[in-house]
Amino acid sequence: MLANATGSPLRRSPLLVCILIVLVTQSYFLFKYNVQATTRFYPSGDPATAGGPETTSTVIVTRTAILGPSGTSAVLQQPTRTPIRGAPLHDIVLSIKTGATVIHARVPIQLLTFVPNFPNTLIYSDLKTKLGDWEVADALARVSADVAGGTLKYWRTMQELHSQNAGLSDSAGKMGDLKEGWSLDKFKNIPILIESYQKYPHASYYLFIDGDTSLISSNWWPYLLDLTKTHDPLHSPIYWGSLALLNDMPFGHGGSGYLINQAAMRKLIPEGKTFDEAFLGDLERNYTKLASHSCCGDLVLGRAMTDRAGVTVKHKWPFYQGETWWSIPYHESNFCNPLGTMHHVLPEDMQEIWDFEQAMLRKTGNDRWRPAGWTEHHEQGLVEWKFSDMPREAKKMDVSTYKYILFRDMYDWFIAPRLPKEPTKEANEDWGNSAVRVGWDNLSWREDELNKDKTKGDDVEQWKKDAITSEKNCRLACEKHQKDCIQWYFRNGICGLSPKFNYGHRLRNDGTYREWRNLGVSGWIPSRIEAKIKEWRSKCPGQVI
Ligand SMILES: *[C@@H]1O[C@H](CO)[C@@H](O)[C@H](O)[C@H]1NC(C)=O
Ligand SMILES: *[C@@H]1O[C@H](CO)[C@@H](O)[C@H](O)[C@H]1NC(C)=O
Repeated sequence: MLANATGSPLRRSPLLVCILIVLVTQSYFLFKYNVQATTRFYPSGDPATAGGPETTSTVIVTRTAILGPSGTSAVLQQPTRTPIRGAPLHDIVLSIKTGATVIHARVPIQLLTFVPNFPNTLIYSDLKTKLGDWEVADALARVSADVAGGTLKYWRTMQELHSQNAGLSDSAGKMGDLKEGWSLDKFKNIPILIESYQKYPHASYYLFIDGDTSLISSNWWPYLLDLTKTHDPLHSPIYWGSLALLNDMPFGHGGSGYLINQAAMRKLIPEGKTFDEAFLGDLERNYTKLASHSCCGDLVLGRAMTDRAGVTVKHKWPFYQGETWWSIPYHESNFCNPLGTMHHVLPEDMQEIWDFEQAMLRKTGNDRWRPAGWTEHHEQGLVEWKFSDMPREAKKMDVSTYKYILFRDMYDWFIAPRLPKEPTKEANEDWGNSAVRVGWDNLSWREDELNKDKTKGDDVEQWKKDAITSEKNCRLACEKHQKDCIQWYFRNGICGLSPKFNYGHRLRNDGTYREWRNLGVSGWIPSRIEAKIKEWRSKCPGQVI
């Protein structure tokens, strides 16, 4: 209806006529009872005790009634609640790295959810473009083509296709060679770091993430307050993230996000060099060269930080971590920890994670939390918060009692309601203690995977050899032979056994039951899971959700 711009709307839409009639009737009642509409439409208290003439609710009911049952009136609905955004984090620059073929699928949902909490956000792709009012920079613009080598041809093709209106999004389905676009990714990290620094040379912190990274934004406030107390951002270098190793080279995994503070930046780009293009060109060329024969940009950056800046990444998992709600291995090692980042987050999951954070903030009362020393001027945006120059109260603030959003809460919100409570009953089988899902991968294989190679040899117990031969034996291996095992996964010749809890995902949507079965079958042992969760929860008692 609203989209129909041609013809007389009145003639074309009986619905519109209805609305008009309702509006007229409503005005009459409003007039007759002299109701103060603005105060009545959104009563703050219990509607039952609000009193007054019934006309007010008539307005809402009528509007719903003419638009049909709930769910069909989305176009006309306004957001019912303003999202909780808390205090803006001006002093941390958020740099998002993505690519032209996926940017439209990934980044908009970031902009709609957590990004506004980080007013100084930069978006980098491999094509200069815009998303709504956001400028998107081309991270490869400053990459030296002569050093980068052949890979850069995809970049040129991309620019050319774009100029010819070819449609670059994966959804357009014409990518062909450009699927290789990901291979451009490794050249981006150093240029993004250089440009982020140039744009905001005085920030205390710089956080680098990907287009499929989600942040639990409210946790970053107490986290950075705490961090600032022990590491002065101007003098004590920080390069923190989730440690990855490749050929003994340590680096912060990019998708999990890595945090670099002002002092560490200064080590890489010394004072006076921030805008020295000769120096920066040299730096870029050195590491573009390294990238041309490396796998990944986060590794290249790790190398630059270690070799040139002398700051090696510190492993700060699980605040920085690379999983989403269903792929996280819940375990006592993370259950009671705060969450900072999540990775491989699907756009729909990002929405749910945002909803989760909003619900948590309301439940904990953190929706009104502010750091000590926060003033009206900060609130009105007249003054920006500087971690490197915090008010005295903030330096003394005890954040150890802050109610962080924990892995536990994510478990309670996402997993607990989805968990099967009872073992699956199968005909003619009396041994099953597991709840079973067919065509489902609960990622048990990540922990302890039994396969042909691992079970050959005479010294291997028989139950391990048996476990890889059938679903039933794999199940038995978990139920009877490993006390710690709470879930298992079987696929032809592979039996995964895990002491950690992983929800996992369905492996495919089409095909027959038999095909699904071949893809894999997963099982949980509900009674053991319950016991484990209870044990893990004892270290952070309580339940917010
Ligand atoms: C780049 O590499 C050269 C040769 O190893 C070195 O002399 C120079 O200092 C490096 N420059 C930067 C900015 O890293
Ligand atoms: C593991 O897989 C089983 C069987 O598919 C499923 O019932 C369970 O939901 C999964 N559990 C976990 C923890 O992933």
